[in-house]
Amino acid sequence: MTEAIRGTGAATVTAVLREMRWWDIDPVLELEHELFPEDAWSPGMFWSELAHARGPGATRRYVVAEDPATGRIVGYAGLAAVGDLGDVQTIGVGRDHWGGGLGSELLTDLLKHATAFECATVLLEVRVDNTRAQKLYERFGFEPIGFRRGYYQPGNIDALVMRLHVQETETD
Ligand SMILES: CC(C)(COP(=O)(O)OP(=O)(O)OC[C@H]1O[C@@H](n2cnc3c(N)ncnc32)[C@H](O)[C@@H]1OP(=O)(O)O)[C@@H](O)C(=O)NCCC(=O)NCCS
Repeated sequence: MTEAIRGTGAATVTAVLREMRWWDIDPVLELEHELFPEDAWSPGMFWSELAHARGPGATRRYVVAEDPATGRIVGYAGLAAVGDLGDVQTIGVGRDHWGGGLGSELLTDLLKHATAFECATVLLEVRVDNTRAQKLYERFGFEPIGFRRGYYQPGNIDALVMRLHVQETETD
């Protein structure tokens, strides 16, 4: 577990990062519906991902950020590894915690695990209109490499595909 303490001026956010478990699915789904109202993941998608997150053949890292004062889940993220390719599957932070560094903490966690999975490259898709997330990824060294047309349905929004070469990453 790692602890993230970030001040935004208006408020100080303290969150503890830990592995996501099945009992976190319901609170994560609440956040998921707030953050991705058009194309939120189903419970089954999280169950299926977590089924691959433990044991010697694990290919997933799912992490949650928990406010220790309230026990509330305030962020989550997931990475899938296939061979030497990692893919950021999801990342989200509750709106009232934006700008406090939690997104960066969650992404740092995923990239550390990408290294542990021996990924050479990490890819992700991000909505073309999501400049906030794109800036976060750029700060970590992700570069745009192309588009996936109509990737996000039902809104028919294009995805920007971004890539990071893991060996170039400094994760601490
Ligand atoms: C994208 C998202 C995960 C970012 O989370 P976040 O917690 O706000 O991310 P961070 O705080 O680490 O970084 C965001 C901004 O806060 C600033 N920040 C980071 N640490 C900070 C600190 N200690 N104090 C003040 N500001 C800080 C950063 O400068 C950054 O601004 P910039 O992008 O202009 O450089 C969040 O906005 C979110 O959940 N969005 C909706 C879901 C989504 O779009 N997910 C991505 C799908 S591809």
